[in-house]
Amino acid sequence: MATYDPRDDNAPEAPAGETETSTQHVDGGDERRLIERRRFLQAGVGITVALTVTGLSALNVTGGLRPIATITPEKEPPQAGDRLVAALDQTKTATRTDILDGRPQTMWYPNNPKTGIVKNGTDFNLVLLARFDPASLGPDTAPHAAAGIVAYSAVCTHLCCTVSDWDAKNAWFLCPCHHSLFDPRADGKVMGGPAPRPLPLLPLALDGDTLTVAGGFVTSVGCS
Ligand code: FES
Repeated sequence: MATYDPRDDNAPEAPAGETETSTQHVDGGDERRLIERRRFLQAGVGITVALTVTGLSALNVTGGLRPIATITPEKEPPQAGDRLVAALDQTKTATRTDILDGRPQTMWYPNNPKTGIVKNGTDFNLVLLARFDPASLGPDTAPHAAAGIVAYSAVCTHLCCTVSDWDAKNAWFLCPCHHSLFDPRADGKVMGGPAPRPLPLLPLALDGDTLTVAGGFVTSVGCS
């Protein structure tokens, strides 16, 4: 299982063994064309970590078999209190009115409001936002939503492609690589395709009209 390892400087870019290509989408816009990078992991095992620190972080990996590496603030995972800024306009902070009901997901990065640092140093921090009628959200999803807005990791749990497409018929997220489908109203449940597990959900809250992160991803970000 390849999961987010922020200590690995290669992880957010193109680790050894990965092939990275750009792609265009049938129903995506400029945002999707710019963001999506297909990642095919051929090797490598990551270790999921969640660190909450200020400034640089360090962690000894695998009991000294690998050197201590640093985690830059840009690679730290989202944490409670973070804001969300648009992936393509990182001066834009998400508010409840930015996310329209029943529309395709949009992409955002966490932003530490204390330091102003956008956590865009790894694609594993890329977050999907979508909005639904709160009454339509499942019991495991509703407590983590804010005004019907839900947040999920954009990293497909199959082979780590970006889940950038939208199944308009069912209002599901669609991964363009091998067509896995995820239901954002039902805890990111897999509705089709080869993905082995749901998309990790990111709890949200509201500070006035501003969307905030209420906690870290509830499950490990990454792919099998
Ligand atoms: S990477 Fe294969 S379905 Fe998403």
